[in-house]
Amino acid sequence: METAAPSAVIVAIDGPSGTGKSSTSKAVAAKLGLRYLDTGAQYRAITWWMITNGIDTDDADAVALAAGKPAIVSGTDPAAPTITVDGVDASGPIRTREVTSKVSAVSAVPEVRALITDLQRSIAAEAEGGIVVEGRDIGTTVLPDADLKVFLTASPEARAARRSGELRGKDAADVAATKEALIKRDAADSGRKTSPLAKAGDAVEVDTTELTLEQVIECVVTLVEEKRAGRK
Ligand code: DC
Repeated sequence: METAAPSAVIVAIDGPSGTGKSSTSKAVAAKLGLRYLDTGAQYRAITWWMITNGIDTDDADAVALAAGKPAIVSGTDPAAPTITVDGVDASGPIRTREVTSKVSAVSAVPEVRALITDLQRSIAAEAEGGIVVEGRDIGTTVLPDADLKVFLTASPEARAARRSGELRGKDAADVAATKEALIKRDAADSGRKTSPLAKAGDAVEVDTTELTLEQVIECVVTLVEEKRAGRK
């Protein structure tokens, strides 16, 4: 495998949904001039392809057989990340409720993980200047030699509120439903056999429950800068 230039910094940011992972990762990458990869978007893209091609996403064998067919391409500019499937922009369709409800089953299939993991490693290796990669298994499995590993957490209430965009709890029923779906998805992602959501032993855990997005970004930027200074 090719490796990125020696000065390049590789940052792995893992954690469950609703912890501010995407917003934090994008902002940190933009501030530090790094590339950015949203690995959840890749699992969503393959799930969307399965749905549109009539593959039963609960049939692990069928999913495994089809896994190599779609060509998934990620654009890694943090200011405008992109994702295409067979050349078609998938950024809208991968965020639907249907994809969200089926992505855990598809991403639990080992053949899917093997393919997407290879893709992620080659993107990281080719990222000039370094990259921030966000996901669930980046520090543990995809990039175990990352220069910095961060594991973001937050209370289920805070995560549900952020996901619903209801930070002041205006719509309690929506927040409750979001919380339930989120807990179910996290349990599936944490409980699967192949590279589950987990904190790497050498990851820095940041509980974001009481922090603003700006504070989390500042915290991670400082951690990256400390790492970079330590390597000089
Ligand atoms: O970050 P997200 O909610 O867009 O991720 C969607 C799903 O993809 C998530 O439920 C689990 C899966 N995923 C994964 O298994 N491994 C990753 N590195 C990233 C996401």
